[in-house]
Amino acid sequence: MQAINNQKIAVIGLGNIGQVVATNLAKNNRTVIVADRNIEKANRMAVHLGSIATPLSIEEAIKAADIIVLSVWFSAIKEVFEQYDSLLQGKIIIDPSNPIAPNDKGGFDKIIGETESAGQINATLLPKGAKLAKALGTLGATNLANAANQQPENVLFYATDDTTINEAVESLIQANGFAPVRVGGIDQSIRIEVFGDLHEYGALGKTVTLAEVKI
Ligand SMILES: NC(=O)c1ccc[n+]([C@@H]2O[C@H](COP(=O)([O-])OP(=O)(O)OC[C@H]3O[C@@H](n4cnc5c(N)ncnc54)[C@H](OP(=O)(O)O)[C@@H]3O)[C@@H](O)[C@H]2O)c1
Repeated sequence: MQAINNQKIAVIGLGNIGQVVATNLAKNNRTVIVADRNIEKANRMAVHLGSIATPLSIEEAIKAADIIVLSVWFSAIKEVFEQYDSLLQGKIIIDPSNPIAPNDKGGFDKIIGETESAGQINATLLPKGAKLAKALGTLGATNLANAANQQPENVLFYATDDTTINEAVESLIQANGFAPVRVGGIDQSIRIEVFGDLHEYGALGKTVTLAEVKI
């Protein structure tokens, strides 16, 4: 495998979270591929970030990258998996999704069973040979931007069943300006998704530093 810091990162889906992740990486001098189903959005993001960012179509981004941050809604992850199934073989997929949808009271409701997690559901849909980590979704977009690169560092939790990718996931989190903490396998995803006990919009309710982490 390539040295971790040489692994190519693509951010696919340039909405709230994708833009923050791409910006965090660029600020920390990590080259980043930016992709969106609307190529104009990717081009604009790359102009904004400068030569450290390369805009590509989703297909070209998947081909070029080792690590793919799939910053699309939970329901769209299944579509991307189906559409790019064979191209995703061997890739490390980072899933920040929260299984929620807006309700009519101005808030959000969970759209899967109370005891289910997006991470576990996405793991069952994962293209053959792809490797999955639940990460980069434990803070809202605002704090994912504002709490990056602080001293002491703030924590981002992650979960994966495949411990061979721990180093790559941790390097990605560090390159976003946070300290990585693994909470366990994908069956622990529920803890780091919205309403979970380690989520900003759950029992934890805030950012934490390494010294404050209790898992
Ligand atoms: N926003 C937050 O504070 C936050 C916090 C933690 C985790 N998350 C999670 O992060 C993910 C992204 O959230 P967000 O707030 O960034 O959403 P967003 O602003 O709505 O952006 C979603 C992006 O996904 C793209 N997309 C939608 N369907 C697609 C498809 N089928 N194929 C390819 N691209 C598709 C959209 O493209 P178009 O513009 O063309 O529709 C858009 O670029 C979600 O799973 C969310 O639960 C969000």
